[in-house]
Amino acid sequence: MAETLGIGILGLGTVGGGVARLLTEHAERLERRSGRRLEIRRVAVRDVEKPRSFSLSRNLLTDDPGQVVRAPDVDVVVELIGGIEPARTLIIEALDHGKHVVTANKSLLCEHGPELYERARRRERCIAFEAAVAGGIPIIAAVGQSMAANQLQSIEAILNGTSNFILTEMLARRASYREILAEAQRLGYAEADPTMDIDGTDAAQKLVLLVQLAFGTRITPSQFLRRGIDTLELADLLYADEMGYRVKLLAVARIVRGRLEVHVEPTLLRADRPIAKVDGALNIIALRGDAVGPTWFSGPGAGALPTASAVVADLVDIAVGRAQLTFPVLDLWRLNGGYELLDAEHIARRYYLRFNIEDRPGVLAEIAAILGRHHISIASVIQHEAPEIEDAAATPPPVPLVIMTHRTTEGQMRAAEAELQHLPALRPPHVRMPVSD
Ligand SMILES: NC(=O)c1ccc[n+]([C@@H]2O[C@H](COP(=O)([O-])OP(=O)(O)OC[C@H]3O[C@@H](n4cnc5c(N)ncnc54)[C@H](OP(=O)(O)O)[C@@H]3O)[C@@H](O)[C@H]2O)c1
Repeated sequence: MAETLGIGILGLGTVGGGVARLLTEHAERLERRSGRRLEIRRVAVRDVEKPRSFSLSRNLLTDDPGQVVRAPDVDVVVELIGGIEPARTLIIEALDHGKHVVTANKSLLCEHGPELYERARRRERCIAFEAAVAGGIPIIAAVGQSMAANQLQSIEAILNGTSNFILTEMLARRASYREILAEAQRLGYAEADPTMDIDGTDAAQKLVLLVQLAFGTRITPSQFLRRGIDTLELADLLYADEMGYRVKLLAVARIVRGRLEVHVEPTLLRADRPIAKVDGALNIIALRGDAVGPTWFSGPGAGALPTASAVVADLVDIAVGRAQLTFPVLDLWRLNGGYELLDAEHIARRYYLRFNIEDRPGVLAEIAAILGRHHISIASVIQHEAPEIEDAAATPPPVPLVIMTHRTTEGQMRAAEAELQHLPALRPPHVRMPVSD
């Protein structure tokens, strides 16, 4: 039997706690699969006195993470602190001390990935990050290794469980965004500050990591379209439902005429598509390869044990030497190469539009005329009958008008919107979502 793999863990919160539990409670199983023992040698936390939900020898704990990354008996450092600093500096120090690194930190890899990968390459170490995208779903292995025979053509994914939970519950319970967000926070599905989840940042960061692996293209979230679910109302989910669609915060990357189209937006998907059927806090990633065709990977994208499952799989990969073989050929440190990004203006799709309009004759015709001037044709319109007002002199309240367009471009839609803004009959809000049939 090969020598024991010494593990140092930075952070013992939700994921770190799950990793420590798996490593201690399933030590034998992991030893069998790795051909060597996986042993926790040091764990850094912020507060060593904090009560933990499982027992771990107090002697392993330190509040000095430097002790973990420098420890001679630690072979692999597992970074589960999160955020940019001190995580970045600690990973650099760990690599410089000859340790392999496992991390679940998508924000850090999204911002500083190439710098860290390059450092690992120079030190002949590896960085494994299965847990950084879609928690327990083995999507990094799928994209980075198992799809090796294919050129991936598209990724369509739900990568944020919090947003998916909110959208699912809003529709199921006919409740408002605010109500369900508050409940998600109570249940622990949403952070106290849920901004990164609901504004699409979290999904965008994960998509950046997938795009680099799948297409060899290094991008940043500021380079592509990103919209969140925070401007949606229950009415939008109900209109979509009426037309046979579900609304999902969809992350998309696909090759279109030799360029890469990338965006994260609330999107209408036909209700019978597999992605549309993934509800609650679950994630799904649909990959289309030129050889395999369409594939779907679905499961829990977060949570203590699902995420720990991915972290520990990386540890097993390092223990058997697989990660050391695959990491050098992934070429992740390359800053250029791969496909060029398609300019957002040229992205072509259908749109769902919801306007709030004055209830008077001719408004629909005014909107249609502006859309028409920008070559946007209308596929269907929903305007439910407004209640009759007794007092003929009173101003009727604004009424919703929903338009589904035929295929057009983002650029044409933006130009039409710029003109629509000046239409006196329109009242805020105005909602626009792409449609993926
Ligand atoms: N939660 C999930 O479901 C999930 C899913 C996928 C990926 N991730 C990623 O996994 C990482 C960890 O997330 P988490 O939810 O487990 O975070 P968390 O529950 O907030 O835990 C963070 C841990 O880091 C420790 N810590 C913070 N600053 C430290 C410092 N300066 N020195 C030493 N220890 C420090 C904390 O110590 P104390 O315990 O003493 O406060 C805590 O144990 C993040 O990158 C996150 O994005 C999380």
